[in-house]
Amino acid sequence: MNNQQALQKTFEHARTYFPSLGNSYKGRPVLFFDNSAGAQVSQFVIDRVMDYYIHRNAQKGTIFARTVQMQQTIVEARQLAADLIGATDHTEIAFGQNATNFFHLFAHHLGRDLHEGDHIVITEADHHANVNPWMELTERGIHVHLWHVDEQGNLDFDHYKELLALKPKIIAAGWASNATGTIHDMKRITKMAHEAGALVVADGVQAASHLTMDVNAAGVDFAAFSTYKIFGPHMGFGYVNRDRLERLEGWCIQKELEKDSYFFEVGSQNHEGIEGFIGSMEYLTQLTKDAEGNGLTLDGTPLANSCSTRKEIAGAMHFAHLYEQQLTDHFLAKLAEVEGVVLYGKTAEQSDERLPVFSFNIAGIETDTLGCALNDAGIEARTGNYLAINLMKRLAVPFGGNALRISLVHYNTVGEIDRFFNILEKVLKELNTYVHQ
Ligand SMILES: Cc1ncc(COP(=O)(O)O)c(C=O)c1O
Repeated sequence: MNNQQALQKTFEHARTYFPSLGNSYKGRPVLFFDNSAGAQVSQFVIDRVMDYYIHRNAQKGTIFARTVQMQQTIVEARQLAADLIGATDHTEIAFGQNATNFFHLFAHHLGRDLHEGDHIVITEADHHANVNPWMELTERGIHVHLWHVDEQGNLDFDHYKELLALKPKIIAAGWASNATGTIHDMKRITKMAHEAGALVVADGVQAASHLTMDVNAAGVDFAAFSTYKIFGPHMGFGYVNRDRLERLEGWCIQKELEKDSYFFEVGSQNHEGIEGFIGSMEYLTQLTKDAEGNGLTLDGTPLANSCSTRKEIAGAMHFAHLYEQQLTDHFLAKLAEVEGVVLYGKTAEQSDERLPVFSFNIAGIETDTLGCALNDAGIEARTGNYLAINLMKRLAVPFGGNALRISLVHYNTVGEIDRFFNILEKVLKELNTYVHQ
């Protein structure tokens, strides 16, 4: 078996861990292509949540066994999140409601150290989750600048240099676009930001369901993630580089209130969700074992020298990315055959700079009309701007800033892509007939 076959074997088998991927609609199997909005969960997650309710359902702050176990489980979960994203350890992780909430918390707390006339940079490529919280600071006389993208949706680094000359205090930037799937060079963003004296708040939400994340190597100061996009429950977690946190002047740590809570983790948490998150990390561990069992190896990758848990968890994302590149190439080759297609973001020739997230329109067909027809044919894919509002306004002008998004992850298959294009062909024929009547 060569590597390509081993990847295919590993990830076609990965589907079997997800009971919900067998769903059907109107008697036909559903194609679940809305993964950028949120992924499905494996049996590992379902089992973990059930196990929590049976054995560890408790509140914080007592010394009896059920509570102690629950609290230990939360620390264990934080450590697994740290291993997933390459943080130093569990003290740099906090669980919470979702990524948006973390960006609001970051803006609130970092904002305490800002003064009227200070500058912040946000990007035109970002989801509004990492835009709005910073815009709110303009009410206090803080200047928020939009870092522009070019006509393909790529961040314009010449413009970045100009903005850095203003000596901004904070750069809020996404690791990958949820609209075009473009991967941003986070290392370059942070290096330039740090040289100019700015902190970086990264949106790791999209990248984390596809790539091996390494917050330390990338040098980000703050970051937020959505666990429900990493095959887990509806929650999020934040990363804060410990050194940066302790240097914040206005920072008031909640240690006195909640002994067990780290920085942003205040009040009661979603314990069952946190436990489910452990299940999603068990799933990734299983995937790495499956991949290695099929002859794949992490030798020669930066993960090879990591601790065993990081290797097991993040290793799955390394293999997933390799497999997703096959899906991307296949999808883009098929898409190129569709008449009138307008794809946003990186082209087939630049496929190694993107995720398998494809936003496009078909000339002459209204986006929602196409989306509804596909939904009706059992394809669960989204139309709109996916809250990448500025980016889609810039890229999809003739379509009112809207597009159809097909977002795949590692449990999708080449067979599903082929089925999608067969259905798309039929739908387009019907729509064209309808349009021309
Ligand atoms: C890039 C990106 N950032 C942030 C978010 C918001 O995440 P959450 O729902 O966890 O707040 C999303 C959700 O789609 C996203 O795609």
